[in-house]
Amino acid sequence: MSYIIALAGKGGTGKTTIAALLARLLKENNCGPVLAVDADPNSNLAEALGLTQATTIGSIVDEVAAHPENIPAGMTKDRFVEYRVQSAVTEGDGIDCLSMGRSEGPGCYCYVNNVLRGVMEDLIRDYRYVIIDNEAGLEHLSRRTTRRADALIVVADATSAGLKAASRIAELARELKIDIKKSWLIINREDLCRGGFQTRPYSKIQVTGLDFLGCLPYDEAVEKISRNGGTLMELLDSAPVMGALRQLGEKIWFCSQQ
Ligand SMILES: Nc1ncnc2c1ncn2[C@@H]1O[C@H](COP(=O)(O)OP(=O)(O)O)[C@@H](O)[C@H]1O
Ligand SMILES: [Mg+2]
Repeated sequence: MSYIIALAGKGGTGKTTIAALLARLLKENNCGPVLAVDADPNSNLAEALGLTQATTIGSIVDEVAAHPENIPAGMTKDRFVEYRVQSAVTEGDGIDCLSMGRSEGPGCYCYVNNVLRGVMEDLIRDYRYVIIDNEAGLEHLSRRTTRRADALIVVADATSAGLKAASRIAELARELKIDIKKSWLIINREDLCRGGFQTRPYSKIQVTGLDFLGCLPYDEAVEKISRNGGTLMELLDSAPVMGALRQLGEKIWFCSQQ
């Protein structure tokens, strides 16, 4: 069964960055194949991975619901959705990417969404790891295709407001009854983390109800890449954030033992 890692946190905390870098680390450790799911319409995980995303799942749902006449004769709706979803997967070198986008249609395209859920479950099965870059409201995990995660990683900054936001997201995940095996907190862009980032005690962290995975330092090279519109695949292996994430990653995955 594939191991699902879901990233959550308010906008700008570093979810997309961490999702892309985790995918890269899994690939580098031969833990693949990896599917990276961009479930935040305001972000671009494909770009961070150096891939070009053509179609989104949202636009496929809209198309099938609004124009059933486009389904080729002799093909069932279910089979058509399956075919379209498969062709929306951007294939990369060890990391594939799928963008959920947003469905623009009015109300609920319940039938298409139900078909989609089954198709996505089948698709996910082909991957050893699935990394989902979620939006703050956990829309994807609550309503869309997957209602489970082996690891939920909430990303926050070290401020009191940031930690409160992380607590709310952890609470939301509990309220939505998403099946989560383990919930973690990562503090991102924390310069104090340099030299001792795993164990630094933050008393306020306990109130989030999340287990502290550790923190990641501010890394100038990451910001530079995002400013220049580059991809995180270009980040040097020796970059501080890579070293820190490698240590944190070891706590959540065990691919070499599977
Ligand atoms: N550890 C870090 N060091 C430096 N810049 C970072 C770090 N993490 C994220 N960033 C930058 O912060 C911005 C927001 O990160 P992003 O991953 O897009 O957040 P989110 O997906 O949560 O909205 C981006 O410009 C990104 O390059
Ligand atoms: Mg993002």
